[in-house]
Amino acid sequence: MHRSTMKMHYSTLLGLFILFSALSSSYAGKVLVVPADGSHWINMKILIVELHAKGHNITVVRGSSSWYITEQSPLYTSITVDTGAFDDDFMEKFLPHLLKMQRQGRSFWNEIALVDEVYRKFTEFHQQICNMTAAMFENETLMNSLKDTAYDLVLTDPAFGGGVLLAHRLGLPLVFNVRWTVYGEEHFDIAPSPLSYIPVIGLQLTDKMTFSQRVMNVLAYIMILYKHSKYFGSPYQEFSQKYFGPNVDFFSLLQNADIWLMRNDFIFEFPRPTMPNVVYMGGFQCKPAKPLPDELEKFVQSSGEHGVIIMTLGTVFGQLLSEINDEVAAAFAQLPQKVIWRHTGPRPANLGNNTLIVDWIPQNDMLGHPQTKLFVAHGGTNGVQEAIYHGVPIVGLPLAFDQPDNLSRMQAKGTAKIVDIATLDRTVFLDALKEVLHNPSYKENMQRLSKLHHDQPMKPLDRAVFWIEFVMRNRGAPHLRTQSFRMSWIEYHSVDVILTLMVTLLIFAFVTAYIMRYFCMVLFRKKVKRE
Ligand SMILES: *[C@@H]1O[C@H](CO)[C@@H](O)[C@H](O)[C@H]1NC(C)=O
Ligand SMILES: *[C@@H]1O[C@H](CO)[C@@H](O)[C@H](O)[C@H]1NC(C)=O
Ligand SMILES: *[C@@H]1O[C@H](CO)[C@@H](O)[C@H](O)[C@H]1NC(C)=O
Ligand SMILES: *[C@@H]1O[C@H](CO)[C@@H](O)[C@H](O)[C@H]1NC(C)=O
Ligand SMILES: *[C@@H]1O[C@H](CO)[C@@H](O)[C@H](O)[C@H]1NC(C)=O
Repeated sequence: MHRSTMKMHYSTLLGLFILFSALSSSYAGKVLVVPADGSHWINMKILIVELHAKGHNITVVRGSSSWYITEQSPLYTSITVDTGAFDDDFMEKFLPHLLKMQRQGRSFWNEIALVDEVYRKFTEFHQQICNMTAAMFENETLMNSLKDTAYDLVLTDPAFGGGVLLAHRLGLPLVFNVRWTVYGEEHFDIAPSPLSYIPVIGLQLTDKMTFSQRVMNVLAYIMILYKHSKYFGSPYQEFSQKYFGPNVDFFSLLQNADIWLMRNDFIFEFPRPTMPNVVYMGGFQCKPAKPLPDELEKFVQSSGEHGVIIMTLGTVFGQLLSEINDEVAAAFAQLPQKVIWRHTGPRPANLGNNTLIVDWIPQNDMLGHPQTKLFVAHGGTNGVQEAIYHGVPIVGLPLAFDQPDNLSRMQAKGTAKIVDIATLDRTVFLDALKEVLHNPSYKENMQRLSKLHHDQPMKPLDRAVFWIEFVMRNRGAPHLRTQSFRMSWIEYHSVDVILTLMVTLLIFAFVTAYIMRYFCMVLFRKKVKRE
């Protein structure tokens, strides 16, 4: 009796195993990943880890001067493309320079100079990507081997355009892991985006704008459109015309992507129109908290009823401005809470005995700890999402890029208080900390967002992987793609139709007026004759 049940178990198990391996092998695909370097790689890697775990074979294209993407990895095979000599002084020189300029005050001209500086630097990056892609296209051995491998899809971060170009050349379905494209915020490239209630990134506006804010929003939009296509888009445009023919428009190639896995969602974003091939995966990087290392746990427990504050400004920004760090430390020293501060570089003056400086913290596990009361963040990759996931309110110190907008969204939802880096001193910072600690609405609002985030049928990462596999199984997702990518601006906005209708109406009105005038005159003449 027992034995036969055992046997049955074995055969069921065996059957399941065979079924499982058949399923997983039929799903195993080949993915060509063209990532963006720098902090964007962190997010791409999360998808790669998950795809690898599902048994897919992954190839990553990297530049020879890559900062983050290693050549050897158990997760993927890499293709290294020579990027030539390129001074990657971005981290060492450019960012500190950017911060200094901000600290000099927020004048109009300063702002313009700042933006200009960023644009020049990024234009260089885009040109370098085009050079790198050209090196690939002109290497016949490489192109042939890529073709022979018969990948199922290209997965890319369209903040840079190399992946879009490569997918078109190889004729492969295209999946985006996206927050930014070459042209700006992702949605603006494919979804209808009425500027009356959709703020462009960079102005820290919300979806409730006054008249003057709407004017600013439209002007900023036009400027972004112009600058991004002139400085960022044009190298790719030239490239497309050179390699694909004079009628090929890079922007259309980009819009033509099969699936857009967006790294945000409507817990973070203001509600807006979207598209059938957009998949929101905001918070895909978040995980439940694991227990802390013993020492950290001891420190956290010693905080008692007051709880702990966590501060991290990311790897790069953390060590930049010692005068700011000194003020921050002085403010922390006046609080009863314990503080864990991720900080490298010179030790700040004014450090209180409640503050622990560490050079690394398990950020996600810390945010998930029940003693954690407050998160001091710069609004960079993952910080805001992890704070939402664990329901921890924020004091924001935005520094550059889209960080101010990320935090202003949180402020608009009543979950964060922003401190301007240009005016930061110990009193301003302390007031902000106290407000978020003592006014319960911040925590309540954040916990409401957290609840909303967790209340969905499928985890964001599972959703993302489902859609990548969907594209493998169905060779793309053209049935979800609108035809907008075929259209010029004039067609898209029906400007041609409106003009035609207006001209027709005008002609009709003229003709009617002319005929009426004619009859009036005839009648009038008759009258005159009779009299
Ligand atoms: C994955 O693909 C690469 C390149 O095509 C190949 O060299 C490698 O053997 C493959 N790995 C597996 C586990 O199939
Ligand atoms: C790209 O290549 C062109 C021509 O080979 C060269 O002049 C330019 O300096 C390169 N740009 C970058 C950013 O590497
Ligand atoms: C072309 O690509 C192959 C394979 O990746 C590489 O071994 C070779 O060095 C490349 N040739 C040139 C000229 O870059
Ligand atoms: C920390 O500093 C405060 C005030 O400066 C002092 O009252 C307290 O005893 C100190 N605590 C420890 C553990 O040194
Ligand atoms: C801003 O938030 C988005 C969405 O969470 C994230 O993808 C992006 O990386 C953040 N910005 C920066 C500069 O890290």
